[in-house]
Amino acid sequence: MTNELLVLGSANADLVVEVGRRPAGGETVLGGDTVVLPGGKGANTAVAAARVGASVALVGAVGDDGYGSVLRESLESAGVGTSLVKTSARPTGIAYITVTPDGENSIVVSPGANSDVAPSDVDSLSFDGVRVLTCSLEVPLETVVHAIGVAARAGVRPVLNLSPVAELPAEALRQLDVLIVNEHEAAQLAPDWRGLLGLGPASAIVTLGSRGAAVVTRSGVVEVPSIEVPEVVDTTGAGDAFAGALSARLAQGDDLVQAARYAVKVAALSVTKAGAQPSYPTAAEVRSLTG
Ligand code: RIB
Ligand code: NA
Repeated sequence: MTNELLVLGSANADLVVEVGRRPAGGETVLGGDTVVLPGGKGANTAVAAARVGASVALVGAVGDDGYGSVLRESLESAGVGTSLVKTSARPTGIAYITVTPDGENSIVVSPGANSDVAPSDVDSLSFDGVRVLTCSLEVPLETVVHAIGVAARAGVRPVLNLSPVAELPAEALRQLDVLIVNEHEAAQLAPDWRGLLGLGPASAIVTLGSRGAAVVTRSGVVEVPSIEVPEVVDTTGAGDAFAGALSARLAQGDDLVQAARYAVKVAALSVTKAGAQPSYPTAAEVRSLTG
């Protein structure tokens, strides 16, 4: 089956623990029971896209270990194609996540197998029927840069979620159809939102957390407000949810503003539940929200 969307990025086992507050250096705090959840920015993005109805495959790597099997199974049960997820000799990536009562998270990632996602993995891809390639940066930068170039030359729209933040070569930035950054990253990259286009992408989206997102194109800036949510439980993976839903809608023919309007809803729903992937809504849940 052909996929309209490919996601290139990480798959991690998220080891999540709730803490009252984060320890300072040299300090110990006790937390709740550890919960193991499927995560990783790439896998999260792919699952978010699949939940809202995209035909999507992940390009990535896991280890030959228990976490690797769990991650493959959870991708498959979410409807994400895994034939492009290779098994590497390194351990499956792990994210150590603490969540505080305000729903805020902090994360240490041990990339493991994700470090083995290589430019040669991109060379073996078929882009037949693929409309969008979405990348994030917990896999090697050179692989992402290579993939953006290959996709652009194949007529596939490259989307980059610049997370975690990294410095991209100017050519890769010019090949991007959509650059997704958060407010903090945007401020580091350019004096104002329109300035992001000066870096080269055809368009940019600045995610604004609970305020929604700003869509930046040559014709101007459109602010897309978010929706009110009753309670913020866990913001882990909200950015990935946004990137996945946006990519799904772009692959299905929405324009950028329509896709962003949809994606802010998906991201908002995701923060109302614990974890990343387990909190991502289906298309039906998004529809029931908007009536
Ligand atoms: O963006 C959230 C993700 O970051 C988590 O699922 C964790 O795996 C880290 O990669
Ligand atoms: Na969540």
